Amino acid sequence: MEFAITSANKYNIAGLIGYTAIRELNYRYSQAIAGLSSSLFQPGGTAKFALSLPRKYMSKIIVIANQKGGVGKTTTAVNTAVSLAVSEFKTLLIDMDPQANASVGVSDLTKENENTIYDVLINGVPVEKAVTDTRFPHLAVLSSTKDLVGAEIELVSILAREYQLKQKLDAIKSNYDYIIIDCPPSLGLLTINALTAADAVLIPIQCEYYALEGLGQLLNTIRLVQKHLNTSLEIEGVLLTMYDGRLNLSRQVEEEVRGHFEDKIFKAIINRNVRLGEAPSFGKPVLLYDANSTGARDYIDLVEEILERDGKATG
Ligand SMILES: Nc1ncnc2c1ncn2[C@@H]1O[C@H](COP(=O)(O)OP(=O)(O)OP(=O)(O)O)[C@@H](O)[C@H]1O
Ligand SMILES: [Mg+2]
Repeated sequence: MEFAITSANKYNIAGLIGYTAIRELNYRYSQAIAGLSSSLFQPGGTAKFALSLPRKYMSKIIVIANQKGGVGKTTTAVNTAVSLAVSEFKTLLIDMDPQANASVGVSDLTKENENTIYDVLINGVPVEKAVTDTRFPHLAVLSSTKDLVGAEIELVSILAREYQLKQKLDAIKSNYDYIIIDCPPSLGLLTINALTAADAVLIPIQCEYYALEGLGQLLNTIRLVQKHLNTSLEIEGVLLTMYDGRLNLSRQVEEEVRGHFEDKIFKAIINRNVRLGEAPSFGKPVLLYDANSTGARDYIDLVEEILERDGKATG
């Protein structure tokens, strides 16, 4: 598979988006982008490159799941999707949560679209019609509204109810390099649909008391999905979120999680960062709200690690 990219395009992200924050991308961020892209370019400005990847990773669906509330699922989904898009990977962000936090978190970027994931799952609206472009050239969004809460019940009586999302996504999966799905804080049918459609699940764990509570239940659900619904589902990794290096507690949680997951834990850690908490209220991912923040850098590190594992990091 070949992509053609112009270097002008690469360094014109600021112009395309028009945000001051992006124009002020710091050295670290530029390095990350340059690192991801430098070997894609040949002298002369325009280059073609071939991705010699296993077929299964040509497009990849990563679901962000943990039934525990407030652990950083949505923050991770939004900022991972945006960081992938900034790295010029065609990315679709799907909001599978009736709370619609991910949809709101990118609302400043998205164009109007009356169709949502609910219409796709329940009303038979073609998925292409519900996918919304954003002001980012490589990012599309499939939004949610509170209507989706009804889908949890309405799906129960639908034939092959666990496969509904997978069936809809099969039609568009190959249009994207990555599809990132944000889940609600439950292990109901919406999360099961997401796990059934996915190639991999990323589990955010908040570095707080009771961090591992309920994790057994989540892992058990993942095992059941792997056994009965989606044999190719893999654990992408466990991500420590809201880490505060000054607190013994954060370090204790880290140790405990490392004891349980060893190689499955991401090297990248998401620190507690006030900018990550503020950005959603402006309808912006942190990269556009404050590209210099620790939060923006942490999510770029995470994406670099994911790309490296998938053999897509070229820098
Ligand atoms: N690293 C961080 N530093 C500071 N605040 C954060 C961080 N990550 C997330 N937050 C904030 O913590 C709250 C919970 O995060 P988020 O909404 O991402 O969790 P969630 O797991 O999606 O929650 P829910 O289970 O309700 O869907 C939000 O207000 C978010 O802005
Ligand atoms: Mg959420």
